[in-house]
Amino acid sequence: MVESLHPLLKTKYPLIQAPMAGSQGARLAVAVSEAGAMGSLPCAMLSPQALRSELEVLRSQTSRPWNLNFFAHSNPPPDPQREAAWRELLAPYHREFGTEPAPPGGARSPFSDELADIVEEGAERGLPAVVSFHFGLPEPRLLARVRIWGSKVIASATTVAEARWLEDHGVDAVIAQGLEAGGHRGHFLPHAKGDDPADPAALLGQAGSFALLPQIVDAVLVPVIAAGGICTAQGVAAARALGASAVQIGTAFLLCPEADTSPLHRAALRAARDDRAGRPTALTNLFTGRPARGLVNRLMAELGPINGNTPPFPLAGAALAPLRAEAERRGNSDFSPLWAGQNVSGCSEDGAAEVTRRLAAGW
Ligand SMILES: Cc1cc2nc3c(=O)[nH]c(=O)nc-3n(C[C@H](O)[C@H](O)[C@H](O)COP(=O)(O)O)c2cc1C
Repeated sequence: MVESLHPLLKTKYPLIQAPMAGSQGARLAVAVSEAGAMGSLPCAMLSPQALRSELEVLRSQTSRPWNLNFFAHSNPPPDPQREAAWRELLAPYHREFGTEPAPPGGARSPFSDELADIVEEGAERGLPAVVSFHFGLPEPRLLARVRIWGSKVIASATTVAEARWLEDHGVDAVIAQGLEAGGHRGHFLPHAKGDDPADPAALLGQAGSFALLPQIVDAVLVPVIAAGGICTAQGVAAARALGASAVQIGTAFLLCPEADTSPLHRAALRAARDDRAGRPTALTNLFTGRPARGLVNRLMAELGPINGNTPPFPLAGAALAPLRAEAERRGNSDFSPLWAGQNVSGCSEDGAAEVTRRLAAGW
């Protein structure tokens, strides 16, 4: 019998494993793709050499469709005043841990010709079936390179206006990313004229997944992929009922053995899952300069999860990096980003194939 495949993703299941930079690589993507859903490789934090070797894993270990994910932000000009204010705020912690802030810099790179060249180096051995973008889309010239690969282009929207913008700019599907989602908001359009899209205040109006999804489904003609807080088969069924063409799920995969989630991050996730009265999540801009959802830790509690002194994305992390490393060495995650969505109930230590099948059963 011929298996019927998802019309856009060309997978057995209408399910994308969300790209999760810093917490997974090709190993998780291969396991999910082999299980019949779309595995994703997040590329924003990979050096050129690391991207080469992760692509090698994808190309040699699966012939099923996979997704490459890139950020589409512009690197900001340095802001010495904010950088100095940020360093001053962190100084007491550096004294406590005997560390020094690292020089300014960013650990996250946007899609570029250099990264596109690396993908094309092995084109004959496989190209991404899907390329997904976060923080808008790259410039048209770069997007045209992706189109030549034959990849479907999808991108995150956090508002109806962003979904319409993405449709007008030619995406094949929109990811409706709700407030509950773990990691960075894909927010890229100002809410009102003159607003900075990276301004945390602009996020106060972000809708929850199941408020956002049906509004985006109504507003655009392209397929809509639901994301944010979906962690169980029931959540998948609910997204389908509200008009989703597929679902993108991240947090539920963070405890899988194929993920590279750090032991401290895993411990915090398990505690949040097993003790619902434990740590909640919050949106914070402390770790990179842009709001992202993670489990509350000491830094977030003491500085407030949203702080006006952080340097612009992605520069906030540099001053924090040595502090984070030293704290982690001492076994504490007080200064580490513990990205997680609001719903950790479905996080499981099972293999990614099992988690994929369990989630897909809800469709
Ligand atoms: C640990 C973590 C890292 C993430 N990193 C990325 C990323 O690199 N690129 C991206 O497009 N989305 C990223 N996201 C957001 C996901 O694409 C997606 O919106 C989110 O996982 C959906 O919500 P859920 O975590 O509740 O399933 C990340 C999410 C998490 C939890």
